[in-house]
Amino acid sequence: MSDPKIIVALDYPGAVPALALAHRLSPELCRLKVGKELFTATGPALLEQLMRSGFEIFLDLKFHDIPNTTAQACKAAAGLGVWMINVHALGGRKMLEAAQLAVANSVKPPKLIAVTLLTSMNQEDINELGIQTSTGEMVLRLAKLSQECGLDGVVCSAMETALLRKHCGNKFALVTPGIRPLEASLDDQSRVMTPEAAIKAGSSYLVIGRPITRAVDPMQALLDINSQIRG
Ligand code: C5P
Repeated sequence: MSDPKIIVALDYPGAVPALALAHRLSPELCRLKVGKELFTATGPALLEQLMRSGFEIFLDLKFHDIPNTTAQACKAAAGLGVWMINVHALGGRKMLEAAQLAVANSVKPPKLIAVTLLTSMNQEDINELGIQTSTGEMVLRLAKLSQECGLDGVVCSAMETALLRKHCGNKFALVTPGIRPLEASLDDQSRVMTPEAAIKAGSSYLVIGRPITRAVDPMQALLDINSQIRG
């Protein structure tokens, strides 16, 4: 099978619009991300429908709990047959190791990645939590910890990709949201990068929502972004 670099974020409140959009796309050209809103509304039934149509799924539930609870949640998520799942790196070493072990012991292990720092948090926000390190240092520290614990990669801002690629090597997956083609609206994103620049900086996969989901022709938008990446 091909290894599409684009993960389309299905940010919808229910199954009907999510399936309608999926039917306008192709599993050869993208994977799909199902997050907390959609999964809470629809449960695993929607995942089965999307997978039956040939799509690989990133189940973006960002688990963050004590090691045992996180491991059991990862085991349950792995049992759904999805391609990728995630946890918060801030859960710490014991939680990350427990999650990794649970995934490794599953019948069909998904890729397991960690969220480093939420990109919605700035320096002031993390200082308020009592953390005095810079956001860049913190992201690098959490990415390296995730790698040491055997995870397959991290979610990070495209701005951090080059630094993480340098320190974490070529095999570590860097999954980056905040992607905007030159002609697209920024919506509520501020620190954005074009698909081409993000791939050049070392992103493995690009999470893209509205530039595709709200396009007049979503398939054409997907084709255009894919050709920009290849270029
Ligand atoms: O529509 P847009 O391309 O902005 O969607 C980006 C997707 O990536 C959304 O699902 C959003 O929740 C997610 N995301 C993000 N920034 C992060 C982590 C996830 O935009 N730091």
